[in-house]
Amino acid sequence: MLRFALSLAREKTLGRMIKIAPSILSADFANLAQEIERVERGGADVLHVDVMDGHFVPNITLGPPVVSSLRKVTELPLDTHLMIQEPSRYISEFIRAGANWLSIHAEADPHLNRTIRYIQNQGARAGVAINPATPLSALEEILPDVDFVLIMSVNPGFGGQQFIPASLQKIRRLREVIASNGCRAEIEVDGGIGPHNLQDVLTAGAEVIVAGSAIFSRGADATEAVRELKKIANCHARVVETA
Ligand code: DX5
Ligand code: ZN
Repeated sequence: MLRFALSLAREKTLGRMIKIAPSILSADFANLAQEIERVERGGADVLHVDVMDGHFVPNITLGPPVVSSLRKVTELPLDTHLMIQEPSRYISEFIRAGANWLSIHAEADPHLNRTIRYIQNQGARAGVAINPATPLSALEEILPDVDFVLIMSVNPGFGGQQFIPASLQKIRRLREVIASNGCRAEIEVDGGIGPHNLQDVLTAGAEVIVAGSAIFSRGADATEAVRELKKIANCHARVVETA
């Protein structure tokens, strides 16, 4: 326990505490409570909840009632990724349902400043997500105001897609911009991440790792899948510390 607390303290001083965020998109929706319990046991830090409207992305998933049901079965922060048009219309409802983090897509909202402030004023963490084809310059004016940036490393809409390799360079460049501007924004990366490429994504500068199929395709072994990702993340943190 003491050792855990010490390593936690060290990671915090590094300012790079890595969080693993299982995405329930690939979970068994008929058994969400059990699936969540499995990833909690593995040490998940955040639960990633993908909201899709069939317009912004070619898929439909869930809305506030499901978030409210999730809230009853877990104390993990609910990281609600809104892949929807006009996200500002639904922010309050998601926060009332229990969402703790909300990310909106830069491509879906022409008034990012207003929506970000609206989210934060209601006590939630606000993030801006960008698709693979959206340049980092889309974030330039908003970066100082956001709590996190969500870099999509696949085109949003579905789980189980392949990581787009050019995302690594994008993460690296964003890490440099954040370091040189002294912003507090965390970098979250979403899509195609698993044990095979996690190290590369972390080395590029990611701090919050979303993983769906790499975890939930393992069924009852989802606990072990999270532990494996946490282990890679902890080794990475130690290497950075001693560098
Ligand atoms: C994709 C979603 C992701 C998805 C990731 O549009 O935003 O959160 O669940 O799934 P994997 O990890 O399988 O790529
Ligand atoms: Zn997502």
